[in-house]
Amino acid sequence: MEKKSNHFSGQLGFVLAAAGSAVGVGNLWRFPYLAAKDGGGLFLIIYLVLVLTFGFTLLASDIAIGRRTKKSAIGAYQAMRPKWKFLGVITFLVPVIIMTYYAVIGGWITKYAIVYLTGGIQKAADDQYFSSFISSPVPSVAYALIFMGVTAFIVYKGVQGGIEAVSKWMMPILLVMVIIIAVYSLTLEHTDESGQVRTGLQGFLYYLTPNFEGLTVQRFFQILLDAMSQLFFSLSVSMGIMITYGSYVKPKVNLNKAVNQIEIFDTSVAFLAGAMIIPAVFVFSGTEGMSVGPSLMFVSLPKVFAAMGKAGTVVGVLFFVTAIFATLTSCISVLESIVANCMEIFHTSRKKTVIVLGAIYLAASAVIALGYSVFYLEFQLPNGTTGQLLDVMDYISNSVMMPFIALLSTILIGWVVKPKFVIDEMERNGETFRRKKIYIVMIRYIAPILMFILFLQSTGILF
Ligand code: PHE
Repeated sequence: MEKKSNHFSGQLGFVLAAAGSAVGVGNLWRFPYLAAKDGGGLFLIIYLVLVLTFGFTLLASDIAIGRRTKKSAIGAYQAMRPKWKFLGVITFLVPVIIMTYYAVIGGWITKYAIVYLTGGIQKAADDQYFSSFISSPVPSVAYALIFMGVTAFIVYKGVQGGIEAVSKWMMPILLVMVIIIAVYSLTLEHTDESGQVRTGLQGFLYYLTPNFEGLTVQRFFQILLDAMSQLFFSLSVSMGIMITYGSYVKPKVNLNKAVNQIEIFDTSVAFLAGAMIIPAVFVFSGTEGMSVGPSLMFVSLPKVFAAMGKAGTVVGVLFFVTAIFATLTSCISVLESIVANCMEIFHTSRKKTVIVLGAIYLAASAVIALGYSVFYLEFQLPNGTTGQLLDVMDYISNSVMMPFIALLSTILIGWVVKPKFVIDEMERNGETFRRKKIYIVMIRYIAPILMFILFLQSTGILF
């Protein structure tokens, strides 16, 4: 039955699938790293305020647009205003780009889960282990292909039979595992060579306490922008994914509740990820151990796990399996939104579309995975960093395109289509849209200004 494959079964199925998209490596490695860098509790407070105002505005807009137009990005923008179809096309291109490298990261994580499962805890803690793995062509490509293949298979099975079925068990288990590791982290204690004792609880306090040291207006601004770009990435907004998922939500579902639950799920997992990682790193490596990006997950954490002794293997397995669940459900949402757009444009069946796109992305993932060996290149990015192919794709999609899309979307909804379009959808079954006033002010005034500044900053035009 065609109908069944194009709807989530109900509110729970939708919330868990959307949370599956939202919870990803951004929650597990980027959020803890930013919190440690940006003044602990200070970052947490700013992030929380932003989630409730700005994040909520973007998430509610995407989902409501999807459900109201019953289309994915390209069709949805065209349905709102034919002249704005171009924005739908740009939005569609974000997952198109992200998909080239997301399975590569998923492959790295799968590799680590297997290493821990097969007793390789000491091996993984070696300084060179990660770089030698990603620069070996055969294994790095093989793992990326496996991850991509599994993703395509699930999307092939459809909205309810694939995406929802997988999210419904993976997301609750993920939540439980994150809680277990976080609680364990708090009980840690370690005495270093100089005889100094550090405990998990101290690390937790370091995470929670707002650190105002050296806070200037400029630094505050920087923290604000960090929190904002994290929020985007984390909620999977401004890339059409939530529009596609929104288009699969049945009319009777209460969107107010669903949006709240997705926000709570995503933010809780990010907070708990900080509570598991920051105290553990603090206990074994002090405050200097929090390194940037992938090396936090693939270099610093393996050292922490090795320092835990026997328990380290168990914690390592739990952690990387959690990360597989987080990454796989996100990867699925990226592919799904590409598939959905293509099905609408070319009027093709799901199966055929997945097979064609699956083949294209198997090839693309292989190329990106080889970006650390055969196709090794160094690119100078406008934000001052140097990167390989994967970083370039990440930079274009997340730092350039997403703030730009959010800026234009807020102008479109706030001033052209008017907020009523979204508000009516939020109140479709007579529900009260409690944050209506905040929504209107955010979408018309505050969000466009913030987005404009974020766009200037992340493209390197400002600062
Ligand atoms: N939201 C996911 C995270 O926080 C990342 C993601 C990016 C998901 C792009 C889908 C698409 O990690």
